[in-house]
Amino acid sequence: MSLPLRWRLGVAAVAAAMGVLLSHAPQARAETPPAPIVDTRTLPAVPNGWAEPNPLRGQAEAIRIGRDAFNQACSRCHGVDANGSRSPAPDLRRIGGTCAKVSDEALRQRCLGDADFFFAKSVRYGKKKFDIEHMPAWESVLSPQLAWAIRTFIENAPKGNATPSVSELARQAQAVQGTH
Ligand code: HEC
Repeated sequence: MSLPLRWRLGVAAVAAAMGVLLSHAPQARAETPPAPIVDTRTLPAVPNGWAEPNPLRGQAEAIRIGRDAFNQACSRCHGVDANGSRSPAPDLRRIGGTCAKVSDEALRQRCLGDADFFFAKSVRYGKKKFDIEHMPAWESVLSPQLAWAIRTFIENAPKGNATPSVSELARQAQAVQGTH
């Protein structure tokens, strides 16, 4: 079946116009960032949800998965591997960084819990100043489990401000894949 040329041109014009309209339509959901694509099945359950302290602290699997999620969702503003190279977004490794120096165990746990609370609150609700969004809210995007895995990764992220070289990133990616 072949449509007259006039029709075909008409159809093409309508399709083009719709494309323009759609691409210019107000993006009601534009502020909701896409969820990172990671397999969380190997993470332990997090029955207390967003409640601090971080239930996954120090767990190797959380570091691995959290890193992957971080580099998908957070690195464009907070730097690859949380290296703090992307001002104005703050260096997230500083959150709770001073707790390690607290020698009293109970006090140290409190310090970490406070830092976790601040982290979770910032991540869930995002950051807005004078109605300008500095960071999106992640509550509807990240499960508490994945957010805590990200926090765990950040706590164990390499120090320093170096942006990893492409070959270093490739090596790390291979190492991560090798563990699947
Ligand atoms: C669009 C850029 C952007 C993305 C993406 C982003 N952030 Fe942020 N984030 C910011 C900025 C900018 C601030 C500082 C905002 C302020 O203080 O007003 C911030 C602040 C924070 C804070 C509070 C830190 C502090 O010292 O005040 C935390 C925690 C945080 N981000 C975690 C995350 C995590 C985890 C992700 C990924 C899931 C993420 N962010 C993704 C831009 C971003």
